Amino acid sequence: MMLSVRDLRVSFRTEDGLIRAIDGVSFDLDKGEILGVVGESGSGKTVSLLAVMGLINDPNATIEGSIRYNGRELIGLPARELRHLRGSEIAMIFQDPMTALTPVYTIGWQIAEQIRAHQKISKAKALARVEELLAEVNFPNPREAMSRYPHQLSGGMRQRAVIAMALSCNPALLVADEPTTALDVTVQAGILDLVRKLRATHNSAVVFITHDMGVVSELADRVMVMYAGRIVERGSRAALFSEPRHPYTRALLGSIPPLTGEKPRRLPAIPGSPPSLLRLPHGCAFEPRCPVRYEACTTEKPALGGGTHAAACLREAQA
Ligand SMILES: Nc1ncnc2c1ncn2[C@@H]1O[C@H](COP(=O)(O)OP(=O)(O)O)[C@@H](O)[C@H]1O
Ligand SMILES: [Mg+2]
Repeated sequence: MMLSVRDLRVSFRTEDGLIRAIDGVSFDLDKGEILGVVGESGSGKTVSLLAVMGLINDPNATIEGSIRYNGRELIGLPARELRHLRGSEIAMIFQDPMTALTPVYTIGWQIAEQIRAHQKISKAKALARVEELLAEVNFPNPREAMSRYPHQLSGGMRQRAVIAMALSCNPALLVADEPTTALDVTVQAGILDLVRKLRATHNSAVVFITHDMGVVSELADRVMVMYAGRIVERGSRAALFSEPRHPYTRALLGSIPPLTGEKPRRLPAIPGSPPSLLRLPHGCAFEPRCPVRYEACTTEKPALGGGTHAAACLREAQA
């Protein structure tokens, strides 16, 4: 197994109390697999993957559990070694491409520098490689794009430049955090194609975070649904879409935006809102919003069962 996360817990000390952002998350990821991570805003998608990447720098954070990458424990690994892993084997793409790009340098220069930071090659070779990479991510005129500054590119082009940068190390593991959220659907489709291509050519593993079930249905092999810092359901894409077991997953499926055509102005919302992570309910965190709750749900925390398709729901345990 390439990545094994066990009982990951992340909490933040704040003036208001302890925020339990991640409350016991476990999952595995193998080479060549695309794992979709879905859930509403605030459910812990970003924090759990930042923990995997060793990128939680908040001094008020506590991280517990185990994160093994190719058998090696990452929790507690020195920052230097994590940085090396991130540049050489693990790559990331974030929602806002400007977090990865520097406004004052040209696209070509910054991707070349990124390559040269991890590989001992000449500047000319690095620049030639950048041109190849930009062609790979479908820049119509890669050489010309290299001389542009980030602000001279469209949002979709910037995101592709960041993907080119991420691909420059042929990552064994790519973590993408809502990389298409700000893009329109045609540009989004192009980005999803690039992710599939990376997997096809390098057998890379991909964790793709999104709040969009439509994207998951297009891309993921397996899916993990998060709610209030926990996994409430996991399964293969086919199982999850044909036979969703958790009421929250079913609610999310009721709100799939169309992948083609115009995006609706506002997504149909699930009534109610997620609980405060400072004061989680004693029982199931989804209980206050659940259409099929019953008494036991207010007092018992449902566990996520074993097996490839599992849901953390008392109704499920009963069935
Ligand atoms: N540095 C921090 N200090 C306090 N709370 C945080 C911090 N970072 C994230 N959180 C909280 O952790 C929860 C999960 O956040 P996040 O993983 O970003 O959600 P998602 O990516 O699913 O939208 C949120 O309630 C967020 O406010
Ligand atoms: Mg997020």
